[in-house]
Amino acid sequence: MGQHITVHGASLLPFLLFIILLPNTDADINSDQQALLQFASSVPHARRLNWTSASPVCSSWIGVTCNAQGTRVISLRLPGIGLIGPVPPNTIGKLDGLITLSLRSNRLSGDLPNDILSLPSLRNIFLQNNIFSGKIPPNLSSSLTVIDLAYNSFSGEIPVTIQNLKGLTILYLQNNSLSGHIPNIDATGLRDLNLSYNHLNGSIPSSLGNFPPPSFEGNILLCGTPLRECPSASPSPSPSSYLPGPHSPPRPRERSKRKLSLGIIIAIGAGGVLLLFLLFVILFLCCLKKKKKKEKGGEDAPSAKGKEVRTEKSEEFGSGVHSAEKNRLVYFEGCSHSFDLEDLLKASAEVLGKGTCGTTYKAILEEGTTVVVKRLKEIVVEKKEFEQQVEIMQRVGNHPNVIPLRAYYYSKDEKLLIYDFIAGGSFSSLLHEGQGTPLDWGSRVKICLGVAKGIAHIHSAMGGKLIHGNIKSSNVLLTQDLGGCISEFGLSPMVRSLAVPPRHAGYRAPEVLKTQKPSQKSDTYSFGVLLLETLTGKSPVQSPRREDVFDLPRWVQSVVREEWTAEVFDEELLKDQDIEEELVEMLKIALACVSRMPDSRPSMEEVVKMIEDVRSDSENLPSTSHSNSINER
Ligand SMILES: *[C@@H]1O[C@H](CO)[C@@H](O)[C@H](O)[C@H]1NC(C)=O
Ligand SMILES: *[C@@H]1O[C@H](CO)[C@@H](O)[C@H](O)[C@H]1NC(C)=O
Ligand SMILES: *[C@@H]1O[C@H](CO)[C@@H](O)[C@H](O)[C@H]1NC(C)=O
Ligand SMILES: *[C@@H]1O[C@H](CO)[C@@H](O)[C@H](O)[C@H]1NC(C)=O
Ligand SMILES: *[C@@H]1O[C@H](CO)[C@@H](O)[C@H](O)[C@H]1NC(C)=O
Repeated sequence: MGQHITVHGASLLPFLLFIILLPNTDADINSDQQALLQFASSVPHARRLNWTSASPVCSSWIGVTCNAQGTRVISLRLPGIGLIGPVPPNTIGKLDGLITLSLRSNRLSGDLPNDILSLPSLRNIFLQNNIFSGKIPPNLSSSLTVIDLAYNSFSGEIPVTIQNLKGLTILYLQNNSLSGHIPNIDATGLRDLNLSYNHLNGSIPSSLGNFPPPSFEGNILLCGTPLRECPSASPSPSPSSYLPGPHSPPRPRERSKRKLSLGIIIAIGAGGVLLLFLLFVILFLCCLKKKKKKEKGGEDAPSAKGKEVRTEKSEEFGSGVHSAEKNRLVYFEGCSHSFDLEDLLKASAEVLGKGTCGTTYKAILEEGTTVVVKRLKEIVVEKKEFEQQVEIMQRVGNHPNVIPLRAYYYSKDEKLLIYDFIAGGSFSSLLHEGQGTPLDWGSRVKICLGVAKGIAHIHSAMGGKLIHGNIKSSNVLLTQDLGGCISEFGLSPMVRSLAVPPRHAGYRAPEVLKTQKPSQKSDTYSFGVLLLETLTGKSPVQSPRREDVFDLPRWVQSVVREEWTAEVFDEELLKDQDIEEELVEMLKIALACVSRMPDSRPSMEEVVKMIEDVRSDSENLPSTSHSNSINER
């Protein structure tokens, strides 16, 4: 895996070729050098480009990669280098051996010269986050597979010539000012599409109907699957249905449904409990009377302490009351909470999430305490096993990176687990729905290291046989100081089946998908996917409307194999260039974790050490990421 990552990794053969081919191809690399120098001298840039005609292009120019023979420039990557203004024609457009071009996150403006997208070998182009305007040049190289022109000010129509690109896998055009119809893009190889926030109109070509609404949102005049029906297709559209918001219609409906069902759950729950409680009170009063009668006649009054009264009576009561007696939460030692189940069910609840094991609520009790209640469904184990499992969960949960279990409730119909509420939210929501400041690299490493330590702790606890079985970013919660805490430990052995809906399968190791048997090494795999998610900012969980799994490890491997390693990383992270080495080191760790063969994956303890090594190397450096991002401005 390692050699895929080293961009400059050279073997002997290309080196020999280099010597043999040097004389007759000298002109090509020289013209590439001229073109690049021309580019550097005509486009102002905030950071220094150490390009000089005296130094060799292929080995010492920042951002430039040549083919193995050193005869052509094949990749130019200058993300976030502070380039300002228009790109002149006949500069980059002359690099006709270029395969990958990344000029993203700069302040390049004006028209995109039409000699760039037409470069015959150009496969990957990343120009997002600039201020390019004007039309997208229609002369497109048939080699193009990845096009990212998002977050610019391109206007005019999407060139119809895009229909001729047979190898297109990624097309990002969101947040521009493109208008007109969407061409009939060949969707066979297309993996990712985003045309959101433009001024596109007309109907979405049926070949693109499988992409989710977020691929098209923010185009008010756009219609057809997966958005609303086109007016011509429905006989008499009311004027109001013609003007939808920027979001797709199914969403609000979905949300109101969810609200409704939560309301119903709470109402039924509260009603049921109230009824049960009344019944219990009535029966309890009845029995007290009986008991008092008995006591009057009997001698052993002192033994009739409250506790015993209850246990004795419960045996006489029918099954309903039997459960009422058990209607108490079982607390673990060291728990300072003092509410009971009634308090809990009276609390205002908010759904935090629905997972494979059940629904999780945030409950705010009247006394002001906030806890997390997990309502388990499809639990296959009997009470005794449940209690044993819960005992393990409690004991192993005694670690700063594992969410502690505080109490539980078990009855035939209802199983609840009560945890501390962790205020920072889930890692998943911070990574993918991030509002406010995006997570910087330091925080991400801290979180991942915490998670790794948590898993390593679980793996080493109680004789080293335990597994987590469900590591994913939505199961990682963040404390206020951004410590990563693992939730849902101990649940997977109790749920009916590990068969998960396909959209959750992204974290599962290949062998688990086949055999349904998780292991410590499959936890390592899931953690590797989590690391890749942290590095790329991409989620392995598809939006609910898409059935297919996004195989994040495979995607990263394919990108890295094509030697555009830098492109896999989250843009947020690349705003600071000086961490790139650290990113690559972390990527190596992640790829080791997602090895297909379980035996070649490292243990979590080893992973913890590797991550700590990456960090300690960088902490010795005097420069911080902060001072550099300021220089960029
Ligand atoms: C330019 O910078 C790169 C990366 O920092 C370095 O590897 C290279 O040696 C530098 N080249 C010169 C001529 O200083
Ligand atoms: C498109 O680019 C190719 C190669 O640069 C060139 O030969 C051709 O004339 C261009 N076509 C148009 C319509 O500009
Ligand atoms: C893209 O456009 C939408 C709608 O105008 C806006 O909410 C969003 O912030 C934009 N994204 C970026 C990165 O500019
Ligand atoms: C769609 O947009 C194009 C370009 O702005 C315009 O010419 C055309 O009239 C629009 N069509 C509809 C149906 O709005
Ligand atoms: C497309 O881009 C928009 C704006 O940045 C974003 O909100 C949306 O989630 C993206 N859609 C997909 C499918 O990635």
